[in-house]
Amino acid sequence: MKTIYFVSRRMNKARREHLTKIANKSGFFKVTTDVREASIVISQESNGKEIVEYLTKNKLITDDVTMVTDDVTKQFVDVSWFIACMKEKSLVPMEKHHKLQFKQSIEDGVSPSKKPRRDEKARMAMYACQRTTPLDHYNQQFTDALEILEEHAFYRGDSNAEARALSFRRGSASLKALHHKVTHVEQLANIPYVDSTNSSKIGHCKKVIKEILEEGFCDEVEGVRNSEFYKSMKIFCGIFGVGPSTGRKWFHDLKMRTLEDVRKEDVHLNKDQAVGLKYYEDLNEPLLLEEANHIAKLVRDTCVALRKDTTVTVVGGFRRGKAKGHDLDLIISHPIEGREEGLLGLILDQLKEHFVYTEKKASIKKVTGPSDSKNTMDHFEKCFSIFRFQPQWVGRLCPSGKSWTAKRVDLIVVPKSQFAFAVLGWTGTKHFNREIRRYARSEKKIVLTSHGMYDLDTKESYPAETEEEIFNKLGLKYLPPNKRCC
Ligand code: UTP
Ligand code: MN
Repeated sequence: MKTIYFVSRRMNKARREHLTKIANKSGFFKVTTDVREASIVISQESNGKEIVEYLTKNKLITDDVTMVTDDVTKQFVDVSWFIACMKEKSLVPMEKHHKLQFKQSIEDGVSPSKKPRRDEKARMAMYACQRTTPLDHYNQQFTDALEILEEHAFYRGDSNAEARALSFRRGSASLKALHHKVTHVEQLANIPYVDSTNSSKIGHCKKVIKEILEEGFCDEVEGVRNSEFYKSMKIFCGIFGVGPSTGRKWFHDLKMRTLEDVRKEDVHLNKDQAVGLKYYEDLNEPLLLEEANHIAKLVRDTCVALRKDTTVTVVGGFRRGKAKGHDLDLIISHPIEGREEGLLGLILDQLKEHFVYTEKKASIKKVTGPSDSKNTMDHFEKCFSIFRFQPQWVGRLCPSGKSWTAKRVDLIVVPKSQFAFAVLGWTGTKHFNREIRRYARSEKKIVLTSHGMYDLDTKESYPAETEEEIFNKLGLKYLPPNKRCC
């Protein structure tokens, strides 16, 4: 039986408690709360010098420091050794990389063998729009975890929530661009927004990944996933028309928790929300590609019949190659500038038996100059609708004897001169847009929106007819939609 001690530096209480519990159950470890009794001192994300300093500063040891470091009866190891023992259900040999370093080694603790070798040129590009991000990637376990933290920050919406959410998404986006699965924390070196190379502080994303690598899960992520707040907000924000601020009001002020609460409480709902609640179950079933294609064809045939040569382009997740999505996004345009005007009303009228709900948003024609960079809303005439989809159209049965199921469809009407920009913006992802816009502004002094692009200083606008031309103008290698899945 080995007597071990967990150092609280960079190891929170919940984690120490968890590790203590599994250690005491192992049969070969006994956890002590007095470091002096321990034969093995276990710590996390620290070197030997930091641990001795920490223990001394917190008066956990009073001995002369050299006594501790030279103490042949004590071994100082990283928590990865402990985890390896738990996995093997036995005491595994302590390898060199498990043992804490005491000497300030060359280049701040990076052993020569771990120094990056020739991979300097393989360094990942900083902006997601400069690299390929496929739909399927190797690190979903990690990106899912990071995106839960992103979503949670978005739900909380407190003062620095936006920055917090963004940092998780940036970390996740980097992992999606890797060509291999991360199996060791060392592989995170130099990965943008994951490895904080220029600071001694170990990044939050990295900590999450490290914990998953070592234990199969991350305490913080599981804490969020199981929290009442997250679970309720996920339900509330899953209602069409409900965003985080409404969700928070329901959760905090009205103490609502479930969909039943929303249904029974006499809570005020706007038009979108009322219909969103009514079709909650239908709208939370994914829309499948073949269903999307069917709706797109119906809209296209209708448009062409109404006005010859009208184009209907599938954008959103389906254009990126997804097999299912939460809605169908369609851009309606016409090869002759101006011929798209007035189309939306005609389409909705023609298809009125197919729509359960249509919420038309008028276009804002006179955009007062370059809009502020924060506001990413576009000004196209559009309609957020709910469509009556009949599963038998694609040879499926409708669940529970209904003859149709509700599906979300967005129709966006775009003049030809803005078509390429609108397609780029509506193809997404949301993060890809954020990145290409940030890149354009910071690196090229060009403002890019779903309407066009122009020079930040001279305000000269740069037309483009295709997405390729936009990438070109920005000095970016063209990425097809299925490589923008960040
Ligand atoms: P979606 O929210 O439909 O996302 O917006 P998606 O990628 O298609 O995902 P699923 O499959 O439906 O769940 C599609 C793109 O349109 C942009 C978003 O930024 C996203 O990139 N968008 C959405 C706008 O530009 N304006 C809007 O009002 C809504
Ligand atoms: Mn979509």
